[in-house]
Amino acid sequence: MAEPPGFAVLISGRGSNLLALATAVADGRIPGRIALVVSDQPEAGGLDHARRLGLPWTVLPLARGADRAAWGRELDALLQGRAVEFVTLAGFMRILDADFVRRWPGRLLNIHPSLLPAHRGLHTHRRVLEAGEPWHGCTVHFVSEELDAGPAVIQGRLPVRPGDSEESLAARVQLLEHIIYPRAVSWLAAGRLALLDGVVWLDGRPLTAPVIEELP
Ligand code: GAR
Repeated sequence: MAEPPGFAVLISGRGSNLLALATAVADGRIPGRIALVVSDQPEAGGLDHARRLGLPWTVLPLARGADRAAWGRELDALLQGRAVEFVTLAGFMRILDADFVRRWPGRLLNIHPSLLPAHRGLHTHRRVLEAGEPWHGCTVHFVSEELDAGPAVIQGRLPVRPGDSEESLAARVQLLEHIIYPRAVSWLAAGRLALLDGVVWLDGRPLTAPVIEELP
């Protein structure tokens, strides 16, 4: 039997999405294996999950102002060395250089804590509250050269409740992230999901809008 596709998980922080992906691999929901965890932060809490779970991991520090293209080439060499077939960004807080993104067409997923195209970038929970918006959530999307602008695959939506704070929203959004990211990664690992000429295909059909998962 062919070996399940290996994928990399790039992290910068706590790594709860890494844990959700690793759990989904372990219980068979994702037909793939985590071939490498890469953190740009030596102190990232997610590295503790990687060590505890016996996942291969490495730190590739990226100093502010460093040459991102050179870092991207180094990362690429690491990924090729581990026969990585696709890459997932899971709370990875650096912008990948355009050459790196172009080397992984249709093989680079990100999770972002907003209902893209609303609220690209940082502080999404605060911005939703400040704007008084009734809905919030998270999006899994293919990475393109423009930040948080690649084609969306699946979104988790939840209503903003009266009295919500940045912290309470972040916690509920993360619950959704841990549902939708393993789902999207399972589709990619199983060959059910593809990006062709900028269009997302799922199960042989083009997606005209992202799949939606709702949390009450
Ligand atoms: C997640 O909420 C993810 O959506 C966000 O960082 C958090 C990481 O949590 N990513 C971004 O903001 C990327 N622009 P985790 O380390 O517990 O997975």
